[in-house]
Amino acid sequence: MDVTKESQYFHLAVALRITYGYKLDVTNNTADKDLAEEMIFVENYITKIRSHVQNVQDYLPRFFRIIFNYFNNISEVSLDLYQRREKYLSNLFCFTKHRLDLDDQDIQGAMMYDYCKSTNKDDISERQITSICLTMVSAGLDNTPLNFQYAMSQFSQSPSIYKKARQELLDCYDNDPIKCWKECHTSMKCDYIVAVVKETLRLFTVLPMSLPRATTKDIIYQDAVIPKGTTLFMNAWAGNHDPKRFLKPMEFIPERFLDLKTNKLDNSLKHFSFGIGARMCLGNNLAFKELYILICKFILMFKISASNEVVAHCSSLNPLEINMFPFSIAIEPRPYKTRYSIQDSALVEMLLNESEPASSASATVN
Ligand code: HEM
Repeated sequence: MDVTKESQYFHLAVALRITYGYKLDVTNNTADKDLAEEMIFVENYITKIRSHVQNVQDYLPRFFRIIFNYFNNISEVSLDLYQRREKYLSNLFCFTKHRLDLDDQDIQGAMMYDYCKSTNKDDISERQITSICLTMVSAGLDNTPLNFQYAMSQFSQSPSIYKKARQELLDCYDNDPIKCWKECHTSMKCDYIVAVVKETLRLFTVLPMSLPRATTKDIIYQDAVIPKGTTLFMNAWAGNHDPKRFLKPMEFIPERFLDLKTNKLDNSLKHFSFGIGARMCLGNNLAFKELYILICKFILMFKISASNEVVAHCSSLNPLEINMFPFSIAIEPRPYKTRYSIQDSALVEMLLNESEPASSASATVN
């Protein structure tokens, strides 16, 4: 299986449910699968062409930018992607809008439902809510799955970390995998898994230069004045790999986020993968919890180890070395083979017995 793709489906299903009350079912519904593929393709492509280092035109004055765009076919690609994105966003918006009066808990629990039912729409325009919905759907669509893929690759090369993570997790649930499977999404009980998520986010640093920000006023820094309107980048990679803060920064050591004596989380050590300050990632809690749940479920279900091919080639896990697109905003590692074997057949049996019949799929968006 393609673990990254599966976790993209997972993120999308969560995001569409929260945002529009839409139940995405890629396993039983081909229209949903097509929708998911389209969204994954368009959003991933946009991330690549929005790179800060490739788009020279972004740094030109408006007049030169128009000329540059005129002679450059990037605009055509951008326009096509823009229209494709608008299409699915508007279909999803209509999906919720046309179901406001149904007695449907998914719709009534959706962010969009609250917006449509709110009497005071002056606070936020339809354009703004569409933009918020877009962020909900797109912001974690690559970042979360890529981090998850990286955590799995690390487990495959570090059997002791994998073993410890599984045992620590089970310890929190009376050593009962089925209880753990059913309850692990309710609270992040296992400090060691939390530390694994933090260490993954730190070492991998999916957005190494964070996002560009423009200053809104002059800033005095030591002897220099940074004028209003200057574009700044935070070098999250440097912060996350600073040997003064993180001993052996290129090694995967979840324990660094735990207190040595108590074995509990030590929250004084911070990573920079979600940015910092007032404009840090707004989805950080959601993304963190998604990663936590995915990791718990995978280590419960599978024994994760290195594939023979990887052992033969001794593949690197240095994010910069395995990055396929050095000019993109995000680090995207080369596909990495990992061996997954079923760990717990009782768990599989329980899931097969419990699996819901194919959803009645009362409606689809296409
Ligand atoms: C592992 C997954 C994710 C990573 C690593 C990540 C990382 C980041 C980073 C580095 C920034 C810029 C922060 C800064 O400039 O200081 C950012 C901004 C943002 N992220 Fe995320 N993000 C992730 C997932 C998500 C998700 C799932 C959502 C929404 C559901 C989200 C919503 C946002 C929003 C709205 C902003 C802009 C905040 C602002 O401008 O005030 N992110 N993210």
